[in-house]
Amino acid sequence: MAALGIPMDIHRRLFITILFLSHCRFLCALFTVQAVKTHYNVEYGNELRMECRFQVDTRIQIEDITVYWEHIKKDGKKQEVAKLEKEKEDFSKQHVDFKGRVKMPMDELSKGFAVIVISNILPRDSGQYRCIVIAQGSDYQTMNLEVKASYKEITSRITEVHTAAGQGIKEISCQSVGYPEAEVTWENEAENLSSLVTTSSTVTAEELFNVTSVIRMSAVANKTFTCIFWNKAFHQPTSLTFTLPDESPIHTDTRSHHIIIIIVVVVVLCALIFFITLIGVKAKVSAKHNRIQGNTPKPLSEPSHNTWIKYLLCCFRQKNVVGEGTAFI
Ligand SMILES: *[C@@H]1O[C@H](CO)[C@@H](O)[C@H](O)[C@H]1NC(C)=O
Ligand SMILES: *[C@@H]1O[C@H](CO)[C@@H](O)[C@H](O)[C@H]1NC(C)=O
Ligand SMILES: *[C@@H]1O[C@H](CO)[C@@H](O)[C@H](O)[C@H]1NC(C)=O
Repeated sequence: MAALGIPMDIHRRLFITILFLSHCRFLCALFTVQAVKTHYNVEYGNELRMECRFQVDTRIQIEDITVYWEHIKKDGKKQEVAKLEKEKEDFSKQHVDFKGRVKMPMDELSKGFAVIVISNILPRDSGQYRCIVIAQGSDYQTMNLEVKASYKEITSRITEVHTAAGQGIKEISCQSVGYPEAEVTWENEAENLSSLVTTSSTVTAEELFNVTSVIRMSAVANKTFTCIFWNKAFHQPTSLTFTLPDESPIHTDTRSHHIIIIIVVVVVLCALIFFITLIGVKAKVSAKHNRIQGNTPKPLSEPSHNTWIKYLLCCFRQKNVVGEGTAFI
């Protein structure tokens, strides 16, 4: 391989060395580098180990081998990943994106293997990698990395919403996080849902796609739904099948929350009035008939039987029920 395409951002000394060596190559021994693998697929967060193989002979000393690794991003921007010179890793010109994540094991260098290990792989690490080896000559090879994150945890959600016209409709959604962006399809035995689906996504702090797909429908013929997240780049589908609960929806909207709050307030008020009445009755009933213990009404006993009637009347919102003229709401 011709070394003329060596990038300019690797510092000038290297560039001159390569130029010299690449000219030398035709005159001196033929030196070549091979990529052990040209394509790597790595799951998000995992470790990537790449290897380049080069020729060695007995005359070469390990300290005379120099290895550079650079990353060529999808937009063509180049970043220095690591450098190995005189048996030492040199991260002084390493791009900040790779800080603290790179190791260059040297145990197989004498056998002609230049190895790099990058941990905690992120979507932004995808693109091309190039190893440049300078030993008895110089050469380089380029390999490709694709990063994926499986849409493994799918969450479904069912919400009852009301349209502007007041019609109650079901909103059924599936949400998951992965990389690259997934296409979402839905299945339901009873109907073709494709025209009812809306899929949107946001990008998380880890550069993954947070994909949410929603279907809105008023009537459901079959309660069993399947949502499928199709990771197109990796031909990998993941799906979730779930059945809608029988009637009341799992999540209610704010309007139903208001109704619940009103019911709770009414119940609490009734209980309050009930206890106030209870205290009043307790005071009036003579000591030997006073069998009400604490705040717990005892059914069947005479005084508590009376208060139960009052309590029930209270809850039917009757006014001025009791002879004493106690006012109720
Ligand atoms: C579902 O409907 C869409 C159009 O809304 C159509 O393109 C698609 O072929 C239909 N799928 C099935 C399985 O009938
Ligand atoms: C993904 O988006 C949903 C809302 O659509 C949000 O509730 C959830 O927290 C998000 N998850 C991440 C990991 O960003
Ligand atoms: C709904 O569809 C599932 C398969 O998706 C099927 O097993 C089930 O019997 C269907 N239920 C009704 C009530 O049609």
